[in-house]
Amino acid sequence: MTEIIVRTDVPYAVTVGGGVSRRLPELIRCADGAGTFALVSDNTVIGLYGDRVTALLEKTGKRVVPYVFPHGEGSKNGSEFLGILDFLARSSLTRDDYVVALGGGVTGDLAGFAASAYMRGIGFIQIPTTLLAAVDSSVGGKTAIDLPSGKNLAGSFYQPSAVICDTDFLDTLPPEVFSDGCAEVIKYGVLGNEKLLRHVTEKGTGFDREYVISECVRMKADIVSADEREHGVRTLLNLGHTLAHAIEKVSG
Ligand code: GLY
Repeated sequence: MTEIIVRTDVPYAVTVGGGVSRRLPELIRCADGAGTFALVSDNTVIGLYGDRVTALLEKTGKRVVPYVFPHGEGSKNGSEFLGILDFLARSSLTRDDYVVALGGGVTGDLAGFAASAYMRGIGFIQIPTTLLAAVDSSVGGKTAIDLPSGKNLAGSFYQPSAVICDTDFLDTLPPEVFSDGCAEVIKYGVLGNEKLLRHVTEKGTGFDREYVISECVRMKADIVSADEREHGVRTLLNLGHTLAHAIEKVSG
């Protein structure tokens, strides 16, 4: 198990390793004052890990209410965002409660933006289940939805209180989704981690997950700690993203 601290205004830990989700109750002590967890996930991930994560959250003695949306980027929109806000209100969440994002980048972005907006901001925990979310989107506090005019055009900088990355959750990823996360790993290598780049070049997709994810998160934590709101060095983390967003937009 590896723990990396992200030194933002309120520092938080990213915990990475095989089976770390079993330690969820102790890793989310930040939420001791909460009464309810709203578990936000998509209809693929909830079937794979929903029961397990719900049982672990319930071990803390708190109420768990699930919000499930259709899998895919198409759900990262204004109506799903408002749907979550309304669900949080109907479930009587208060400012002491927490949103828990269980899933990939879409889930983290959508749930995080909702957590930042509901009652002007309630607690937020990320449990990434894709490689892309593990190495990049679950860390650093960027949350967003897409607008008809472009990707990620509405959102907030809103840091989670904890990120729990169980590398075993990557076992169920389709190969093309795993590859899409590998591109993000290569980004970190290209941004100045020769050892990491050499490791993934040698091992291919059979790389040491805890080592690779921890290295990427450590690099991201350093950059985000220096430039939380992307006025300078953080733009490095967009390497490849801007072009890819344009390709996504024009290709539909
Ligand atoms: N995904 C790029 C960033 O967090 O800045």
